[in-house]
Amino acid sequence: MNSRVEGKIALVTGGAQGLGAAICGALVREGGKVAVSDLNHEGANATAAKINAAHGEGSAIALHHDVTSEDDWIAAIEAIGAAFGGLSVLVNNAGIMVMGSVEELSLDDWRKSMAVNADSAFLGCKHALPLMRETQPGSIINMSSVSALIASHNMVSYNTSKAALWMLTKSVALHCAKGGWDIRCNSIHPTFVRTPLLDDIVGDRDEEVILAKLAKQVPIGRIGEVGDVAAAVVYLASDESAMMTGSELKLDGGLTAM
Ligand SMILES: NC(=O)c1ccc[n+]([C@@H]2O[C@H](COP(=O)([O-])OP(=O)(O)OC[C@H]3O[C@@H](n4cnc5c(N)ncnc54)[C@H](O)[C@@H]3O)[C@@H](O)[C@H]2O)c1
Repeated sequence: MNSRVEGKIALVTGGAQGLGAAICGALVREGGKVAVSDLNHEGANATAAKINAAHGEGSAIALHHDVTSEDDWIAAIEAIGAAFGGLSVLVNNAGIMVMGSVEELSLDDWRKSMAVNADSAFLGCKHALPLMRETQPGSIINMSSVSALIASHNMVSYNTSKAALWMLTKSVALHCAKGGWDIRCNSIHPTFVRTPLLDDIVGDRDEEVILAKLAKQVPIGRIGEVGDVAAAVVYLASDESAMMTGSELKLDGGLTAM
């Protein structure tokens, strides 16, 4: 086993599948312990069970957690304190992508996107910080997107909610610095990665053709892989990134360099 995050306790929201599940696995492979939280409790259980089978019982716990619910956040942080005695890494990863232009999208869908992608991290930082202060050094990692930095005509709520998450990151970073706590906060901005999140983009069209089209938009000629994102999370969670706070880490294959 490697030990880049040895002894660190992490909470990863949206850990049932996709990027979240890969991040949970990577953090435990590098010596951490993880609380896998998700609205999809069965999926969170499955991720935790897989990790415990590979790395030993007690490496992971699963939490049923709706990130839009303040009560669920309070309960999740209490459960982590009880199970692990502290929290050093918070990965605000849960998110949804609802497609639609400003004229197409309903107010309900707008509010849902803002709640899952932005309110969630506000609540997470607010309720995790007291426990994280007791377990310094700490690192908060917000899963934003390249879509926070460049817009699409038909992703109005995704663009806006991910940009809110980007700026929330900077405010939280400065709050922690001003408080004198060794707790950092950074955001990650991936381009497309093939997870269930892209199901709506692929739709019932030929998946290979669609993914090739997406890859063509990326200067390095490929879309991201879950391992690209998990590696960035391990870096930001570890003390290797001690000088980095209030920053954005772009995993976009050069997309925003154009
Ligand atoms: N896949 C990509 O191309 C891509 C690119 C950039 C950023 N991202 C971001 O990465 C994060 C993870 O995306 P993914 O691709 O793994 O998506 P995914 O759809 O595979 O997984 C998202 C997870 O979040 C959970 N979730 C949704 N709403 C929730 C809620 N209210 N409470 C708790 N959990 C909830 C889902 O159950 C699911 O397990 C998201 O924030 C997404 O916006 C993804």
